[in-house]
Amino acid sequence: MQLNDILEQYPKHETLRDGTPVAVRPLKATDEKAFHAFFCALPETERLLFKHRVTEPKVIREWCKKIDYGRILPLLVLDGKQIIGDASLHQTLGGWKRHIGRISVAVHPAYRQRGVATLLVRELIDVARNVGLEKLEAEFMGEQEGARRAFAGLGFRELLRLPDYARDMQALPHDYVLMGRELKTDEEFTAAGD
Ligand SMILES: CC(C)(COP(=O)(O)OP(=O)(O)OC[C@H]1O[C@@H](n2cnc3c(N)ncnc32)[C@H](O)[C@@H]1OP(=O)(O)O)[C@@H](O)C(=O)NCCC(=O)NCCS
Repeated sequence: MQLNDILEQYPKHETLRDGTPVAVRPLKATDEKAFHAFFCALPETERLLFKHRVTEPKVIREWCKKIDYGRILPLLVLDGKQIIGDASLHQTLGGWKRHIGRISVAVHPAYRQRGVATLLVRELIDVARNVGLEKLEAEFMGEQEGARRAFAGLGFRELLRLPDYARDMQALPHDYVLMGRELKTDEEFTAAGD
């Protein structure tokens, strides 16, 4: 399936576990301010473990300017105009990891434990399957236990753990944990009765 056809399904309107109506759609260039506000709302202790300095406006500006859904598909959950969750599907488009997508996710602290991450990751699993990826992976630092539990509930398992392999934004060492899952095609699902 072509990515453009998949993207035409958005925005999707969903309801969180507590009944909150939300919209799910890809990031747009005009989201810059709301996207920056979303990252600023995350606790500093969590941001230290991120790969990018997400409170710097220029980082978010670049992301919003250089949108290329085929390479990075950032999918948002919105409550009205507020961004409350973000998950991205990263593809390498060539090379020996071209069949593997990588997913990362973050949810606004006020909206946690209501199924936002589950909703986003499930959407991206479907997208990944539909664009023909065969595997998904997600990278974590040792301390991101809640996140690993969320991914475990979505079919990911721990593939690798390297003690003190990663460095946070303050250069402190952390365990690196790689989780992954296989993606079955729709035909395989039907055949397996899954
Ligand atoms: C991890 C994170 C994305 C979870 O978001 P969320 O919307 O609260 O997750 P969900 O409500 O979909 O939870 C799904 C499951 O994950 C597990 N889970 C989520 N947060 C958890 C936590 N803090 N502690 C333990 N388990 C947790 C639970 O098993 C939960 O299922 P349940 O609600 O049926 O018990 C969110 O806490 C976050 O943004 N953390 C900071 C960023 C991060 O660590 N990202 C991961 C790197 S890719």
